[in-house]
Amino acid sequence: MMHGALEDITQAIGNTPIVKLRKIGSDTPAEIYVKCEFLNPGGSHKDRLARNLLRRAEETGLKPGGTIIEATSGNTGASLALLAALRGYKCVFVMPDKMSQEKIQHLRAFGAKVVVCPTAVEPEDPRSYYSVSKRIAAETENGFFANQYHNPANPEAHYISSGPEIWSQTNGDFDVFVAGMGTGGTISGCGQYFRERKPEIQIVGVDPVGSLYYDFVKTGRITKPFSYKVEGIGEDFFPTTMNLKILDEIVRVDDKECFLMTRDLTRLEGLFVGGSGGAAVAGAVKYARMTKKSQKILVFLCDGGHKYMSKIFNDDWMRENGFLDEEPGLGTVRDLLASKGSRNLVTVTPTTTVAQAIETLKKHGISQLPVCEEGRAVGLVAEIELLRHLVSGHKTLNSPVGELASSDYATVTPNTKIELLKSVLADAKVAMVEEQDQLAGIVAKIDLIDFLAKLAPPMSERALLG
Ligand SMILES: Cc1ncc(COP(=O)(O)O)c(C=O)c1O
Repeated sequence: MMHGALEDITQAIGNTPIVKLRKIGSDTPAEIYVKCEFLNPGGSHKDRLARNLLRRAEETGLKPGGTIIEATSGNTGASLALLAALRGYKCVFVMPDKMSQEKIQHLRAFGAKVVVCPTAVEPEDPRSYYSVSKRIAAETENGFFANQYHNPANPEAHYISSGPEIWSQTNGDFDVFVAGMGTGGTISGCGQYFRERKPEIQIVGVDPVGSLYYDFVKTGRITKPFSYKVEGIGEDFFPTTMNLKILDEIVRVDDKECFLMTRDLTRLEGLFVGGSGGAAVAGAVKYARMTKKSQKILVFLCDGGHKYMSKIFNDDWMRENGFLDEEPGLGTVRDLLASKGSRNLVTVTPTTTVAQAIETLKKHGISQLPVCEEGRAVGLVAEIELLRHLVSGHKTLNSPVGELASSDYATVTPNTKIELLKSVLADAKVAMVEEQDQLAGIVAKIDLIDFLAKLAPPMSERALLG
């Protein structure tokens, strides 16, 4: 064995550097540092997960020559494929169709089989990538379903690997840990490790607009998820690998913020990362601005930029999706709210009675009301539901509306594009507009129609048809 050489490439997993950001976030009192997981041999933090999943699988009966099956958006697949190639396993990966071609080709390069499934179906749907992977696993002899969304070996990987590594690199000298959340393995495993050693540490999760996590953490409501472009983070269901209780704070970012920050990380800091890295840093900067503290923030950067050349690093794609500033498009929710004029936002609180809510609905000629607590939306009451509850006899005119508020809404931000709002409102009754955790407005389908009709005729026709 040559002096200084590693036994094989898996020995190069981990020991990734932590780097200080020089420019990004320099307008805040915080110091921001990043953990460069994109430098792992398989291209991301999922190398640590794959190593631990296989260790556990071998302990519990996976035999040589067996087949590893996984529902993966790419990175877990890349890491499993790398380990499988070395250890003589076959791989089948099932992924949603929004994933980049580069990610699919990357897996095929290792000899893996890739099955692509529709993104726009419920996770329980038999066509969803999660259901398909479960079925293939059940039908394959000596098959092992890696099951990163529900396998405790996922957070464990970070509890025994990334967590201790960061701790020993820094001597625990940081105040805040920030990570994006997909399966939640990273934040749950690292968060747990750090919390046990430094209870006052702040664990901050970053979630894209459209994902379920944010509203659930802030209000306990399972609002309507909707699609977004950033890959690897946010969910439309709750994986059991995600321990939401570990979070001290959750910060929300939209696609445009993620992608512009991803490009800034490359151009200003020389960090060629993927969109979830941009998301995590955008979230960290927001957190630093919000808390205004002199503190050390450590941000976990998951994967590299190579797989996003045709998207985030392609100006045409960025422009087509309205992520570059010069793109006017149909405008944003902010424009829509402004066009509604200065009508006051009418809300109720959870203790408002059904009778008072009906009075308010009548007085303002509206059919639904946001239920707010400390300025934040925590539910929705609609005329039709009040009626249903009264007719069923379960509630009376004196019942508090908090007990019968629904989650039939999506939350968006003032920067959400009108183009996206159309698909949001196809599924949710209304969109609640939140800015800095305060309800800034509510948009129903009729408001959107009104707004589009006010635009120049050729534009609005195109929008209504498109
Ligand atoms: C690019 C990228 N970023 C972030 C994550 C989220 O990490 P975790 O699943 O550990 O929450 C993933 C997971 O798939 C990912 O692929």
